Amino acid sequence: MTRPLAIAPSILASDFSKLGQEVRDVVEAGADWIHLDVMDGHFVPNITFGPDVIAKLRPHTDRIFDTHLMIAPCDPYLEAFARAGSDIITVHAEAGPHLDRSLQAIRNLGKKAGVSLNPSTPESVIEYVLDRLDLVLVMTVNPGFGGQKFIHAMVEKTRRIKAMIGDRPIDLQIDGGVTPDTAPLVAAAGANVLVAGSAIFKGETIESYKTNISAIRQAAENA
Ligand code: DX5
Ligand code: ZN
Repeated sequence: MTRPLAIAPSILASDFSKLGQEVRDVVEAGADWIHLDVMDGHFVPNITFGPDVIAKLRPHTDRIFDTHLMIAPCDPYLEAFARAGSDIITVHAEAGPHLDRSLQAIRNLGKKAGVSLNPSTPESVIEYVLDRLDLVLVMTVNPGFGGQKFIHAMVEKTRRIKAMIGDRPIDLQIDGGVTPDTAPLVAAAGANVLVAGSAIFKGETIESYKTNISAIRQAAENA
């Protein structure tokens, strides 16, 4: 079973002084989802934005808001991110001791639940929560910063996770170092949602966003 391909620009690489405009521009350029990287300076060595910024962005588009929480603990903030207008909330398996509880909490808030795995985390951590998942995010860089180099060992991990997912209605997402060169590798391994920050927001015009998104989409479709 193949799930539809989606390109999810990460606004981490956009101009934070005009976020609303950037979201509208990247949607006009062909974004399927908007990927929102939330960092706390504790779970990852960088700080971005929280639920209030997401809530202010919400009226700018009706595209899926895909919130990637790189925060620990995450449980106390899930409700705020749900209220802010996230459609999917993804937590890191490494962010706390009770992944099953966090995933249940997200679904109880009426949102889709995702789990993200750092590069060094084995795929076995999701084995007993598959039925609670709507999305698995394979980090192909160490979380915290845009513009890092794709870690090739994650292609095999993606393939293994695809096999674990089987026919379940779970999206398989890749995040970090996605370009027209790396997209086909993960698409062929079974990924259907590709996050990209620097590869999409380079050029700083709607026209370049359009070219950048189509290049990644074409490369993945041809894989
Ligand atoms: C990294 C974030 C990514 C980041 C990807 O911690 O989770 O979403 O924006 O950036 P690129 O596409 O530049 O690797
Ligand atoms: Zn991310």
